[in-house]
Amino acid sequence: DGRLETELLEIALEAATRAGAFLRDGRPEDLGVAATKTSAIDVVTEMDIAAEKLITGLLTDHRPEDGLLGEEGASVEGTSGVEWVIDPIDGTVNYLYGLPGWAISIAARKDGETLVGVVHAPMRGEIFRAVRGEGAFLNDRPVRVRPAPDLGFALVGTGFGYLTERKIHQAEVVRQLIPEVRDIRRAGSAAIDLCDVAAGRLDAYYERGLNPWDYAAGDLIAREAGALTGGRPGEPLSPALTIAAPPGLFEQLRTRLDELGAWHD
Ligand code: IPD
Repeated sequence: DGRLETELLEIALEAATRAGAFLRDGRPEDLGVAATKTSAIDVVTEMDIAAEKLITGLLTDHRPEDGLLGEEGASVEGTSGVEWVIDPIDGTVNYLYGLPGWAISIAARKDGETLVGVVHAPMRGEIFRAVRGEGAFLNDRPVRVRPAPDLGFALVGTGFGYLTERKIHQAEVVRQLIPEVRDIRRAGSAAIDLCDVAAGRLDAYYERGLNPWDYAAGDLIAREAGALTGGRPGEPLSPALTIAAPPGLFEQLRTRLDELGAWHD
């Protein structure tokens, strides 16, 4: 019901805003790598860990019965049916290097459906938010996808994983796609890329190998702004393949990505 969504949105906005201030103001000059994950270049900083704790602490204070799934290990079953999907820093490599393209991504889902999504990019001064069925907003202004161009005129965002074999294949897909589109962007945060599709700053976005915390909030924001999202033909968006584009471009891009094998390594 609408009251649940309103409550979840308020909590998500509070958590994202607090974590954003903490990450922006508290970034140590000598920030280093605290740990690595799937490969030596898949890094975690002390700030990812601290921000996830801040966010999950706040969510649990407000709604102790909810489940939690966080990039830095938060994993709680919950009993309310609501699950929070959290990326404390999407774009960790940008954050590590002091580039502005990083964001806090927080989504709340219930019965497999995302009800609320918030993506906060503090260095851009931007908070994107969406509630299912109620449109998408950037700092309280409604956002909308661009009218679909032909694939040949599309500005397409993408990203690469941290695994060498996967990167080689992803580069091969881009090598074939780049002469067939306007240009490619690789900004470094899947959550922001999806919001940039929502705001009409990119025509489309795709990536193989994301995790739910990278795309859960941005997926809802993109859809509420008028984008279609999905995976391989006939499949929903998933870690295997995430595509977002306005109707009219979506199928064209999806078909081409399928031909190019964008969904495998
Ligand atoms: C990464 C970013 C990046 C994408 C990677 C993700 P992280 O998330 O979203 O743009 O290309 O696949 O893993 O590790 O910075 O949270």
